[in-house]
Amino acid sequence: MPKILDGAAIAAQIKQEVAEEVKRLADQGVRPGLAAVLVGHVPASEIYVRNKVQTCAELGLFSELITPPDTVTTEDLFDLVSSLNSRDDIDGILIQLPLPKHVDAKFLLDAVSPAKDVDGFHPINAGRLQAGRPALAPCTPAGVIEILKRSGIPISGQNAVVVGRSDIVGKPAAMLLLHENATVTICHSKTRDLAEVTRQADILVAAIGRPGFITPEMVKPGAVIIDVGINRIDTREDFDRFFAGNAKREAAFAKRGSVIVGDVHPAAFEVSSAYTPVPGGVGLLTIAMLMSNTVRAAKMRRGL
Ligand code: GUN
Repeated sequence: MPKILDGAAIAAQIKQEVAEEVKRLADQGVRPGLAAVLVGHVPASEIYVRNKVQTCAELGLFSELITPPDTVTTEDLFDLVSSLNSRDDIDGILIQLPLPKHVDAKFLLDAVSPAKDVDGFHPINAGRLQAGRPALAPCTPAGVIEILKRSGIPISGQNAVVVGRSDIVGKPAAMLLLHENATVTICHSKTRDLAEVTRQADILVAAIGRPGFITPEMVKPGAVIIDVGINRIDTREDFDRFFAGNAKREAAFAKRGSVIVGDVHPAAFEVSSAYTPVPGGVGLLTIAMLMSNTVRAAKMRRGL
């Protein structure tokens, strides 16, 4: 039976550590603060951002939620970011993605001060990460590393295969794994003989954004699987493809009309020695790492 890597337990551990650090900083008169910018009404984003703001409160961080309408211009958002950059009570700035189509997202993300870029999306921070300098690393990839380390899974010398090359997950995850001395391969939609490559993985990171894309024959028996995907499926056909005969999921599907599946087909987990479930795996680490990055930014900015 493969081991389930419990994201909730690891996230709780990290949040506990962050809360303790926040207490220590309070003794020095410092309260880390996060500004979350949520543009318009994207239901999934609203849930994510609400969780981020709530977690700040739980851990003792200051937070401010700013919710411009979806008619807001790039210029107005730029002015907002500029004012947040110059505020001393704000250590982290988070611009929730996706932004409306008419907004120039890259321009805005580049406008965030690298010192307050708690998402780790600024090219300066991407460059620092690449160069092996202390940086604010993107939260989800940082969470992947925390899960591996805190579960006692060796990384050094292992073959790590990352499927997906996004700037937010795939590329930084590969870089972090490389810094941990893994032998890293990045695969993507143009990779030839993909299954041949993924079968070399001791650690397989799935970050493609396609439901159940990794199938059992793509996994080396005994590999560790980290499933970064969060995909909602709402048709009976898709449901049966992934969860036929699973009573618990069946009940959830009947109740809500949809269920969440990762980028890994549930049958593929059975080939592994350990895996992160979806939900309940990597997703829970993202917010914990955002909190950790915000505290880190607060300390770095003050030279602590
Ligand atoms: N949208 C989906 N994931 C993320 C994330 O990690 N950060 C931000 N800012 N937006 C997101």
